[in-house]
Amino acid sequence: MTQYLKSLAGAALVSLAAFSVQAETLNIVHGAVGMDDEILRRQLDAFEAATGHTVNIVSMPESTTDQFSQYKLWLSAQSSDIDVYRLDVIWAPQISEHFVDMNEAVEDIRDQFVPSALDAQTVDGKLVAMPMFMGAPALYYRADLLEKHGKSVPTTWEELTATAAEVMEAERAEGNGDMWGFVFQGAAYEGLTCNAMEWVGAMGGGMIVGEDGSVGINNPQAAAAIDLAASWVGSIAPSGVLNYKEEDARGTFQSGNAVFMRNWNYAYALVTGDDSPVKDAVEVAPLPGGPGGAVATLGGAALGVSAYSEHPEVAIELVKFLVNFENQKMRAIDTSRPATITAIYDDAEVAEKMPFIPLWKPVLDGTTPRPAFSTKRKYNEVSAEFWTAVHNTMSGNGTAESNLAALEARLTRLKGDAW
Ligand code: GLC
Repeated sequence: MTQYLKSLAGAALVSLAAFSVQAETLNIVHGAVGMDDEILRRQLDAFEAATGHTVNIVSMPESTTDQFSQYKLWLSAQSSDIDVYRLDVIWAPQISEHFVDMNEAVEDIRDQFVPSALDAQTVDGKLVAMPMFMGAPALYYRADLLEKHGKSVPTTWEELTATAAEVMEAERAEGNGDMWGFVFQGAAYEGLTCNAMEWVGAMGGGMIVGEDGSVGINNPQAAAAIDLAASWVGSIAPSGVLNYKEEDARGTFQSGNAVFMRNWNYAYALVTGDDSPVKDAVEVAPLPGGPGGAVATLGGAALGVSAYSEHPEVAIELVKFLVNFENQKMRAIDTSRPATITAIYDDAEVAEKMPFIPLWKPVLDGTTPRPAFSTKRKYNEVSAEFWTAVHNTMSGNGTAESNLAALEARLTRLKGDAW
């Protein structure tokens, strides 16, 4: 072999060795709905092609409550199996110690992000995760049916109750026997906390726990809101709504069997998508309000790097990639997920291909966060107590008044001297 060829072969070996030392396999855990997994896979393929690393998706059940239970098991066992977690917007204060502080790693990009989205992931100065998308619910409605029956879009929950009933009954009378008035997330999980917080807030019943940590939920307005919601079960909503999560509600609405639906932004791309039977008939409005205003719960997800990952540097690189402008723009256009980068709301291509995103900016700006910071490490228990009281009432198990009185006692005990 000539000297030249020898050195060439040597160089090839060296670079191969360098590649194999650097190429890592990572696991990202991802509680997906709708097209989330499909889009994530597409983006991971691009990351793999650019870096030589491999990333597997570990799929999770749809319910954020189920995800949280599983995540807590991994985290408390300090498992290195998962490198990157997709976290619900509400979790940072409860699990901050299990994640790498992202502050330094994102110094170069943090100015691009919506400040409140970063704040929601910052616990005692530590940036626990990078915001991936935001959520602000919409009232999805069948514009064709409202027009046909001469109804306008309801602006209060009482109006929604009446309109849903009238349109549903008129449709049924015409032979559309599967029609319902309103579908939402009524199962006993975090989704019901979000829905019920909106009903209660609109009625003037305030928050489950105030920003100052006070327990004020046991009041007549809150009871009236929950009683109204209980009246929907089996009348304008199917009894099965008590087991509905996001995708159940979407299934009923998208197949043409509901006049109204409360859901997150991801549902928009699907219900208006090419294969949706109602694609030309659906429009969106802000949720109904009441004397307390219109409340839209802040939702969303963030990506955190596990403190127990064996590949924290690559995991950070992956998180930065998944939240970069191009990938957030792709998510906004293809899955109608609101971005956490400000510039996406002013992007001409996003406005053209997914006008819902800039349209929803004012709703996103006006969202109400859950009391995740004021109840600190007890948020999950607080929320579970709240959704249980609401679910019990809606199942005919006690009145709103008695269930709220019991809830107040439980929350006060849970709080003790301070949250
Ligand atoms: C969505 C929201 C999340 C919320 C959940 C409730 O996933 O993004 O914040 O907790 O719905 O079901």
